[in-house]
Amino acid sequence: MWDDKGEKYLDLYGGHAVISIGHSHMHYVQSLSKQLEKIAFYSNSVKNPLQEKLAEKLGQISGYPEYQLFLCNSGAEANENALKAASFVTGRKRVIAFKKAFHGRTSGAVAITDNPKIVSSFNAGHDVVFIPMNDEEAFNKIFDSSIAAVIIEGIQGVGGIQLPDDSFLQFLQRKCDENGTLLILDEIQSGYGRTGKFFAHQYAGIKPHLITMAKGMGNGFPVGGVLLHPDIKSWSGMLGTTFGGNYLASVAALSVLDVIEKENLIANALAIGTYIISEVTKLKEVIAVRGRGLMIGIDLPEALTNVRKDLLFKDHIFTGEAKPNTIRLLPSLALTKAEADIFLQAFTKNLQA
Ligand SMILES: Cc1ncc(COP(=O)(O)O)c(C=O)c1O
Repeated sequence: MWDDKGEKYLDLYGGHAVISIGHSHMHYVQSLSKQLEKIAFYSNSVKNPLQEKLAEKLGQISGYPEYQLFLCNSGAEANENALKAASFVTGRKRVIAFKKAFHGRTSGAVAITDNPKIVSSFNAGHDVVFIPMNDEEAFNKIFDSSIAAVIIEGIQGVGGIQLPDDSFLQFLQRKCDENGTLLILDEIQSGYGRTGKFFAHQYAGIKPHLITMAKGMGNGFPVGGVLLHPDIKSWSGMLGTTFGGNYLASVAALSVLDVIEKENLIANALAIGTYIISEVTKLKEVIAVRGRGLMIGIDLPEALTNVRKDLLFKDHIFTGEAKPNTIRLLPSLALTKAEADIFLQAFTKNLQA
């Protein structure tokens, strides 16, 4: 990226994990421009063949060909619809969410987000219980036949790149299956190839009932989606939206998948991410490194709170943060080893400054 003075920046944050294939990728720009010349939008009451093409391609690349796809416009909206579907299917309303979770800012999504500061009294009316992640005992204490859904991030992003144990995800899937509860995997930040698998939960070998996605799906064009297990019988109008899956959104999402496939970006995310994690682990100033692929959190001591600012203002490298002092890396999946080395060199220098 370049600023208004022509200064060059390396973007390792992608505007909250949104830029999956790189800014202004030629194929993406051309696909969207061509579509804009044809038709940008028409109502969802008229069949849009691009949505079908997207559902088929997404199903095939993600390993969920048998799931249905509902298209919407943002992450919060995807979660809102997944919660709604779970409540329709089960006839229940109580939801289990996890401490440090972030699921969005609309009414239901913010109610299952563990941050009272952004929950208004209007949002607080939902029936939600928060428990610590990876704590089977805490889960067993409150899990019963009143629970409509359990929602968990593939990897917690805003919470500071916190990973659920594979065994915990398998436990949740088992418990939900036994109880007629729906398991929702929020892959809005951790999905779309970022972790080296299409969805982060695929490391645990589970198949949740509902999977939500957005961010990297449109590389900046607002697109969100929910994958629904084939056992979920939807009826016309159960979920709906005016803008969701419009022609431009569908083309944006399709061209992202084209590039991910053609440029082998999932394997690249895994290789470059593993390299960064192993190099950062060697640095003695670093308290902890967590993550998978190109979803990385680096905990620094309080004395080094300046590192992120120095990276930006001295070295022109964008990174993200999580409180209290975690650097969050969520770059494009096309990050090269040479670019990773630019970061590693600047980071090491700033740790010692
Ligand atoms: C895991 C997760 N879920 C949901 C959301 C909400 O997405 P949006 O901002 O597109 O509504 C976010 C956004 O940061 C997120 O990280």
